Amino acid sequence: MIIAPSLLAANFGRFAADTQRFDESGAEWLHLDIMDGNFVPNISFGPQVVKTLRPLTKKFFDVHLMCSKPEVLFDPFVKAGADQIIVHVELGERVEGLLWKIKSLGKKVGLAVNPPTAIENARPYLDHIDLLLVMTVNPGFGGQPFIHECVPKIQQAAAWKRELGLNYHIEVDGGITFDTVGECARAGADVFVSGTGIFGQHSLKTAVRKMRRIAEQNDPALADLQCEQADAATLPLSA
Ligand code: DX5
Ligand code: ZN
Repeated sequence: MIIAPSLLAANFGRFAADTQRFDESGAEWLHLDIMDGNFVPNISFGPQVVKTLRPLTKKFFDVHLMCSKPEVLFDPFVKAGADQIIVHVELGERVEGLLWKIKSLGKKVGLAVNPPTAIENARPYLDHIDLLLVMTVNPGFGGQPFIHECVPKIQQAAAWKRELGLNYHIEVDGGITFDTVGECARAGADVFVSGTGIFGQHSLKTAVRKMRRIAEQNDPALADLQCEQADAATLPLSA
């Protein structure tokens, strides 16, 4: 289970201090939301900001490009220190080339699916990705309510993973709080992006620990193991 606080919910005047808080929080990934004012109706921050934050932590930088022309940003974000770059499946026939380009730059490859987009649109690319991001709000702004109707898409992503023997992470992003993280973990998600749900808490460390505990308690793999152990305990010794 990976917890990925989103810097979008940090204090924009104190990015460096909030990155240090993140570094000490126990979370594994820093989620960086890049918005171009075209693919989504908002603008966030660019590669120069990410480059400035890079020396402050050794942790994984998860760069989510909500951009109409992500290809122009690949090199700048690689140079800025991105570990993974996520593009959106809504970019249609350009997606395959974009995924190959990210891979050729030596970075982990992510593909995101917006709430109105069918998860089946991601199916042709599953062999080529390290992570499938199921958006649980319409991208553009932090602090929106979780869209419960997206949960079956997480279940489908997890079913494909089992059927095809693939290893991609399933990430959820948008409205992830202590109240919604368990439902996502039960459905098969293993990476949890949280902006206001985590940065809004007084102690980032306590918030990350709590979110991780809820995710782990709802981990279907753990539930399977507990069933096996319970079965083993009730088996007769001679069996
Ligand atoms: C939404 C972004 C999210 C956002 C999540 O456009 O992709 O990563 O920061 O924020 P919360 O957790 O506040 O919904
Ligand atoms: Zn995001």
